[in-house]
Order: sequence, then structure tokens, then C-alpha cells
Amino acid sequence: MPARYSILRLDEDDIAAHLHDDVAQAAKDYLPLWLSISCCLTILSVLASLFTPRTGQLRSRAFTLELANHLYQPNVYIGLERLNDTVLKAALPDRLDIFPHVFAPVSNVEPGRVFPNDGNARVTFNGLVSPGEPHIIIDKNTSMIAQIRVQDYGFARCAIASTIPDPTLLVAQNRTLKLSPNAPPIDIWILDSSSGQLDLKTLSWRNRPARIAHVSTLAVRPNEEMRSAEFDCGTTGLLRTFEFSCTHDACNIEFWQGQPETKPRMAFTFVQMPL
Ligand SMILES: *[C@@H]1O[C@H](CO)[C@@H](O)[C@H](O)[C@H]1NC(C)=O
Ligand SMILES: *[C@@H]1O[C@H](CO)[C@@H](O)[C@H](O)[C@H]1NC(C)=O
Ligand SMILES: *[C@@H]1O[C@H](CO)[C@@H](O)[C@H](O)[C@H]1NC(C)=O
Repeated sequence: MPARYSILRLDEDDIAAHLHDDVAQAAKDYLPLWLSISCCLTILSVLASLFTPRTGQLRSRAFTLELANHLYQPNVYIGLERLNDTVLKAALPDRLDIFPHVFAPVSNVEPGRVFPNDGNARVTFNGLVSPGEPHIIIDKNTSMIAQIRVQDYGFARCAIASTIPDPTLLVAQNRTLKLSPNAPPIDIWILDSSSGQLDLKTLSWRNRPARIAHVSTLAVRPNEEMRSAEFDCGTTGLLRTFEFSCTHDACNIEFWQGQPETKPRMAFTFVQMPL
């Protein structure tokens, strides 16, 4: 049939009525095929998202932290500074226990070594699960680098605590602890925090931040919470970096730091206390 000029119809029913029979038939024939293809694609993409480790999320979280580090952090506790000390003290708990968000070994005999930083992380059906249990190693050759952010408002006194449970309680949980009975106290140092959030993927002895001051020594003993000398925490939100070291031959501490809810607790924590 020769094509002839005609005015474009605007009425949908009219257009449908004039659709060529072949086209309408083809659309009907292929409809189930297109439906099943799109169904398959949807199922595949859902499966892919379930089985892919969520590296994208990790990257964006690292980026957010990095960004947060360079931003001005205003005091979010507006007006608390106007409360009188008696009232403030009554409202606050005795202590806040802070688990360092960065806690990694560096070795002076292997200055370029980057220790594995997610030893207990594993890929599961739900993606990468990172239990955040740092491997603590403190000996003649190895120091720990820790980073925290000062929390909350009005907790200006800081100390570092070592909490080591009764070793016999650990055996039942398959948790291991190396702690020589006559180990001398470890040394706590304040490090320079000016270069911001440390990157666990590159942190080594060679590029660790410089020491600024010696805080105090800290004895590590089983069955007891031991504390360092107290120091000023600094303002809320401040990023602070520390080194735990011990240069004596008899130093030998090694364990996996538990999560805050793990009982019995075996950890180095920062204790923030009200003034
Ligand atoms: C703080 O406030 C409480 C309750 O209003 C009052 O009893 C107390 O005397 C105040 N203390 C000071 C040091 O102003
Ligand atoms: C420290 O490093 C030296 C030299 O590599 C090594 O001989 C020694 O066993 C190490 N000590 C500890 C406690 O790892
Ligand atoms: C401890 O380890 C042993 C051997 O690996 C295992 O059979 C046992 O189930 C573990 N116990 C706990 C509480 O994880």
C-alpha cells in the first residue's frame, strides 16, 4: 500500500484502532518473553547485591570520616556550659569508656610493615562483617597506635585503663592472652594529631605520627583495672592520638581486644570522667 500523508491523530483509541495488525500480534507474541527476561534481570541484580561485599559503603564511610575530620565541629551540647557544677555532676555518669576507633600495631624492626587491620573480618551472606577487634601486640619491637575522639560534654578528665580479666575465665571462651607476669609497666605517649584521621591501610612505624609528650606509665595486670595518670581530654570532638610502647625485654602483651559488650572485658580503653 503506498504511503500517504495523513494528519497525526491525537485520540489514543483512534491510534490503537489504526495500529497495523502485524505489529499488534508481534507485541502480543513477545510479551511473555519480555516479562520473563525482566524478571530474570531483577532476580539477578538482587542476588548480586546480596553476595557482593559492600566495599562501596566502606569507601564512603571512610570518606565521610575523612571529611568530618576537616570540618569545624561546633559544641552540640548547647547551654550545658551554663549549668552549675553541682547540677552537671549529678546528671553525668561517673565515667565514659571509649574504645579507640583506630588501634593498630607498628613495628620498629619492620618499619615499613602495615599490620593486617581487620584480622577477624569475614565475608558473610550479609556482606563484610568487621567485628572491630584490634590485635594488641606490645613488646620490645612493637607499639600500638590508638586514636579516639573526645566524647560528650563535661568529661574533661581522661585516663587510659587496662582491663584484664582472670585468665582462667578466658580459656572457656577460647580467648588467648599473653602477659608475662613480671612485665614492667608500658609507656603512654601523646602523638601529634595534626595530620588527622590515621589510615589503617598505610599506618606503619615509618609514617606514624611524632611523639609530643609522655603521659605516664600504665601497669597491665590480670584481674584488675589499672589506670594511667590523668590528663586533660581536650574539647568535645577533638581527635587524639596515642602510642602504647614498652622497650624492656620482658614486655610481652598480646590479645584480641574485645568489643564493648564482650564479657569479661579484655581491653585498653580511654576513661573520660567529669571534672
Ligand atoms: C546549683 O543549683 C542548685 C539547684 O538549683 C542549688 O541548690 C545550688 O546552690 C547551686 N550551686 C551553686 C554553686 O550555685
Ligand atoms: C624483636 O626483633 C628482633 C630482631 O628482629 C628479634 O630477634 C626478636 O625476637 C624480636 N622480639 C620480639 C619480642 O618479638
Ligand atoms: C573452642 O575451640 C575448640 C577447638 O577449636 C572448639 O571445638 C570449641 O567449640 C571452641 N569453643 C568455643 C566456646 O568457641
